[in-house]
Order: sequence, then structure tokens, then C-alpha cells
Amino acid sequence: MEHKVLIIGSSNTDMVVKTEEFPKPGETVLGGTFLMNPGGKGANQAVAAARLGADVRFVAKTGDDIFGKQARDGFVKEGLDIQYFAKSQDLASGVALITVNGKGENEIVVASGANMDLLPADLPDAVFEDIEMALIQLEIPLETVRYVIRKCQNENIKVILNPAPGVKLADDFLNGLFLITPNETETEIMTGIVTDSAEALQNAAAYFHQKGVQNVIITLGSKGVFLSNNEFNDFIPALKVPAVDTTAAGDVFNGAILKALASGENWVKACHFACKAAAISVTRMGAQSSAPYLSELV
Ligand code: ATP
Ligand code: RIB
Repeated sequence: MEHKVLIIGSSNTDMVVKTEEFPKPGETVLGGTFLMNPGGKGANQAVAAARLGADVRFVAKTGDDIFGKQARDGFVKEGLDIQYFAKSQDLASGVALITVNGKGENEIVVASGANMDLLPADLPDAVFEDIEMALIQLEIPLETVRYVIRKCQNENIKVILNPAPGVKLADDFLNGLFLITPNETETEIMTGIVTDSAEALQNAAAYFHQKGVQNVIITLGSKGVFLSNNEFNDFIPALKVPAVDTTAAGDVFNGAILKALASGENWVKACHFACKAAAISVTRMGAQSSAPYLSELV
């Protein structure tokens, strides 16, 4: 039987402007198109996993405001279990200001608001009941991330850490992780290794293994991923697609890899599945709005 998966993380409202060129500091660029979309790394990953068929419990914290209400209404429509959602009385819901250029690249500034008020006290023991695998990112307080990792390990729940946005973490965050999924920038921040060759990727993966991480997937954008564990140590390519907006490609990859691994898929097939889901998301605008459904992957 496939167990419920747990995702704990951020929920934002993304204010997106699509324009040909990013403005330079001090410059104003006219001619953009505006979109308002649900986002936040935790929420994007939760919606991606659910659309691919996972039974997802999602825990986040929003403000007591219209953005928080819209986000929660959206999660109910996506079929997420949000019974342990928290609401801050003092802080506004998270907002991200995103600019997407003509190449599909993005620049993002996040006002975290209530996301940074998601504390261990918001996570009763019942959150972790009947869970086999959990996924967490770094858009909530590190104190909460540490608590979730320890709690899951005590309950024999496998933990996937998507260390985004990148920060140099103390060793105790890494020890005992089932899987870590940094992109290239995050890998460099965490290991000090620039991932410009296969050898450098091997060395970066070895760094994480030495710290006690069982499985490592370094995501490489349009180049795919580098998977390192005791079964496989090599590249898995991305699909070739026209990039419209790469926002949340990493989130869709993480939601999809969680779904595939929780279903008992082997590592290489799980990576192919997640690369395909992420590639589809790159061809569409937005974060959650770009996440594909299972029917689109078969
Ligand atoms: P983001 O911050 O944009 O959400 P990320 O930096 O966390 O993404 P990436 O390594 O850029 O993560 O992308 C994650 C995965 O998405 C890649 O491993 C790849 O499978 C897929 N992907 C990203 N960009 C492209 C692209 N241009 N073409 C095809 N697949 C892509
Ligand atoms: O990973 C993309 C996400 O990062 C966006 O949805 C934005 O909200 C920021 O959290």
C-alpha cells in the first residue's frame, strides 16, 4: 500500500512580470505582462506531487488575509490534506516578486511573512502519523527544519531535503538524510565545490555522503541531474524542451521524485519520471500552474 507523504514548507503568492530583458539596477523596463499565481517552494512541491497521484499532507503557515485564504482554497481543490495548516495572527502571507525574461530565466525576491513563523510548536505529533516519506525545503525557519528532520528520523520516516534557497547548513542537518536534492548553486554554497565537471559532481556527491546522506541528486537545469548512491553514479539527461518559464522546475522535480520513490520506483526510473515532469513545467508559465498531471507523463 502506498503511504501518505508529508511536505512541510512555504506558501507564497507569486506576483510575476514577464518581460524580454531584466532591468539593470535603476532602470525601468516597459512592456511587461503581469500574472498572479500560487507559489512557494513547499506548496509548489505539494501540488506537483498531488497532481502526479501522491496522497499529500501539506503543512504551511499563512497570514490571516486574502492571499492565505486563496492559497488554502487552492490546496483543497488540489486534494491536499491541509488539516494541520497554521495561521499567523501577526504576519502577512508570503509574497514573491518574480521577473521572467525572454529566455525563461527568473529573478525572485521573497517577502516570507508568515512562512518564517512556522515553528515546531505548529507541528503536533499527529502531523507525522502514518507517514513513510517527508520532503522539506529552506523557506521556513531553520529551527523548524532541524526539528522536522529529527522528528522524522525518530519516527523512521525517510527525509528528503531540497536545500533551497541555498545556505551553508551545519552537519547535523545532513546526517541521516535519505536524499538531498540541491541545484548547482546550492551545491556550491553547501560544499564549496563548483560543479563544472563530472569529477566535481562526484566530489560534491561524496561530500554529502561523508556527512551521512544516503542518496544525492544534484539538479543541473537543462542538463538533467547527477544521481549518486550505491546503485548508480552518473548523469541522467533532461528532456529537450523550449523554455518558457523555468520557475518551479526544481519544485516540480522534487514533488515528482517524492511521488516516484514513495511508490517504490527504482532510482533511475524515478529520476527519468521527475525530469519529464520538470521539463513539462518549463514549457509553461508559473509555479503551481505549470505542474503537470500524471496523464501528461504516460
Ligand atoms: P528553479 O529554481 O528554476 O525552480 P532549480 O534551480 O531548483 O529550479 P534546476 O536544476 O534548474 O532546479 O531544474 C530542476 C530540473 O528541472 C532539472 O534537473 C531538469 O530535469 C528540469 N529542467 C530545468 N530546466 C530545464 C530546461 N531548460 N529544459 C528541460 N528540463 C529542465
Ligand atoms: O521555486 C519557485 C518558488 O520560489 C516561487 O513559487 C516563489 O514563491 C519562491 O518561493
